[in-house]
Amino acid sequence: MDFENMWSERLKSLKGNAIREIFKLLQNPEIVSFAGGFPTLGLLPQKEIKEITDDLLTGEGALKILQYGGTEGYTPLLESGLKYASRFGVKGELKNTLVISGGQQGIDLMFKAFINPGDRVLVENPTYLACLHILKTYQGVAVGVDSDDDGLNIDDLEAKIKKHQPKILYIVSDFSNPTGKTLSLEKRKAIASLTAKYGVVVIEDNPYGEIRFSGEKLPAIKSFDTEGNVVYVTSFSKTIAPGLRCGIAVADEKIIRKMTIGKQAVDVHTSNLSQAIIDEYLRRGYLEPHLKEIVPVYKTKKDAMQNAIEKYMPLDKIKFTNPEGGLFIWGEFKDKSADLDKCFVDCVTKTKTAYVAGSSFFADEGINHCLRFNYSNATVEQIETGIKRLAAYFKENF
Ligand SMILES: Cc1ncc(COP(=O)(O)O)c(C=O)c1O
Repeated sequence: MDFENMWSERLKSLKGNAIREIFKLLQNPEIVSFAGGFPTLGLLPQKEIKEITDDLLTGEGALKILQYGGTEGYTPLLESGLKYASRFGVKGELKNTLVISGGQQGIDLMFKAFINPGDRVLVENPTYLACLHILKTYQGVAVGVDSDDDGLNIDDLEAKIKKHQPKILYIVSDFSNPTGKTLSLEKRKAIASLTAKYGVVVIEDNPYGEIRFSGEKLPAIKSFDTEGNVVYVTSFSKTIAPGLRCGIAVADEKIIRKMTIGKQAVDVHTSNLSQAIIDEYLRRGYLEPHLKEIVPVYKTKKDAMQNAIEKYMPLDKIKFTNPEGGLFIWGEFKDKSADLDKCFVDCVTKTKTAYVAGSSFFADEGINHCLRFNYSNATVEQIETGIKRLAAYFKENF
């Protein structure tokens, strides 16, 4: 059957997420991949999760975990999730909290609740590509806001709010994906007050905040929210395990209610077993020692990438970010005609090293001179080799 005339308006022109498509190209085990964004596989806390799962499924509450639950979430996790969010100064009560099936679902439920076809959403340029993808499925329009070294440009934010009257601003406050940039404290306060003044809802997405290598931990934008317009979305994907698909949203009660109604229609509730595992993991005090184990490993990998960049890359041609945490480094060629999309297959074939071309992270089309590197899925040796090979390719081709 040919379905071409049957697809919904929402999805008919949408292509697959660029990164998922790249994965198909990377089946060759010889390839060093800086393309994904997964946590390091060997760092996932298998032993603790097995212990907790065994306890949960042999304990008194086992049958309850296997039964349906409430859409809002498993109450113990709502409590421990609020405590998790409070690590960034976010406050709330149970009525302000929703368990979500990963941070990505938080973005989806927000757009589902607020976005009609044609509605505008401001995003940092560049931004998390899944946010752009989700927005398209609701036929919303992303408008890019300029970005400085310390995050969103506040003058441009105000100008774009006035010009486009957006309903929502989406922002990754710590170690953004794709750039690794972190919003300064002043900008966090400015975003809270500007968006309150103009009546713009903020989705503050913070999956990477705990992966900090240097600098001081900063309070979330949500901690400066006086009008209830900031929705804080966080996740356990990068701090515990992404396969459990669990996150937390903290927001005004009315927004939580709408997100809950939206969630009811999608997955009824996040897996009870996942929720109970995450809750026990937090209550047993496993998070702190786990972070002490994983953050130094990510720092070592990030330092290895930064050192290799300094040693091999043609820095007169391409500028890189130097993040204080997270999983990504971002590169921008000075020559805007450098096309990292066009050369991708040739580059991967010749260098056996993969990056993600930056174009898919922009609200606007045709920005092809940037790229994203991830360092969590390669060894220190592979990082050195991969950057050396890419540097040689870039010197030869740009
Ligand atoms: C900025 C950002 N937000 C949200 C997510 C979604 O994570 P999850 O749905 O696994 O919690 C990611 C994952 O890569 C991300 O980079």
